[in-house]
Amino acid sequence: MAFPKRVRLVEVGPRDGLQNEPEAIDTATKLALIDRLGAAGLTHIEAASFVSPKWVPQMADHREVMHGLRRHQGVTYSALTPNLKGLEAALECGVDEVAVFGAASEAFSRKNINCSVAESLERFAPVLERARQAKVPVRGYVSCVLGCPYEGQIAPAKVAEVAKALYQMGCFEVSLGDTIGTGTPLKAKRMIEAVARDVPMEKLAAHFHDTYGQALANLYAVLEEGVAVIDSSVAGLGGCPYAKGAAGNVASEDVVYLLDGLGIESGIDLDRLAAAGNWITRAIERPNRSKAGIALASR
Ligand code: HMG
Ligand code: MG
Repeated sequence: MAFPKRVRLVEVGPRDGLQNEPEAIDTATKLALIDRLGAAGLTHIEAASFVSPKWVPQMADHREVMHGLRRHQGVTYSALTPNLKGLEAALECGVDEVAVFGAASEAFSRKNINCSVAESLERFAPVLERARQAKVPVRGYVSCVLGCPYEGQIAPAKVAEVAKALYQMGCFEVSLGDTIGTGTPLKAKRMIEAVARDVPMEKLAAHFHDTYGQALANLYAVLEEGVAVIDSSVAGLGGCPYAKGAAGNVASEDVVYLLDGLGIESGIDLDRLAAAGNWITRAIERPNRSKAGIALASR
């Protein structure tokens, strides 16, 4: 299979990247980051998460973030909405797109959203229905597609089952999360092949965390399979509060550098993106985990 000509990046730094930060990050810093990402050419930015502030305190300012956006033309600003309460609040804030998030692991589902996989799908149905009325597209996430912090190995068939359920329920795209970053390229390929038997390849996104340093290699493997949507986080920020020890997402700068080298269009200005990564890591006093970002800053 040939590489896609163009890849769409979904920047999850402001949400996945920041949700696990222990120190409070003020809303103005989040907004300045989102602004810089839009200016760098990102067209899809996951800006906030309408989850319980008791579960994820860092995302408690979701309303202020959504209301404070300086919107760039052509940019979709999305948010996580695990239930109707979250969706209604996100709609009030003028969200462009929302996402529900399930898992291919029963144990992770319980830890992350306090219900079984089957219950989560039941909970998502009214969210999809309400979003359809509001004409807001819904993305679906599946976590633990290449391993679970509690259950270990996860069968590709289980990933395919949950991805298919989300797709049939009306999710326009299903993002496959290697939540703990334990995947390796052949495993990633086999998982994508299994899911693509049930969900069209063009409806799939790769959401790989980089805990074991395999995320770019895994992305290369699934690009070869035809995946053309990649989730990433500027400066490799992040981690999941319900997957202890999990590192951030693959760094957006590293993905853009890879895509540029492969001649795959992304529409992103790497220098501006790298500047945004350097800026946010300084602002929140975190290490920059993008190799390309560090290299570009030291030129
Ligand atoms: P629950 O306790 O089962 O829900 O939590 P509940 O309906 O019984 O509500 C309990 C309390 O939460 C109530 O408040 C509700 O009002 C409140 P109280 O009466 O106790 O004061 N509540 C809410 N507040 C604000 N917004 C809401 C909301 N819903 C209920 N939407 C729930 C269920 C899903 C709410 C909870 O488990 C939760 O918030 N979980 C969030 C977990 C999370 O955000 N995890 C990280 C994101 S997922 C991720 O990172 C993976 C991903 O990146 C892909 C990958 O890498 O694999 C996407
Ligand atoms: Mg994630």
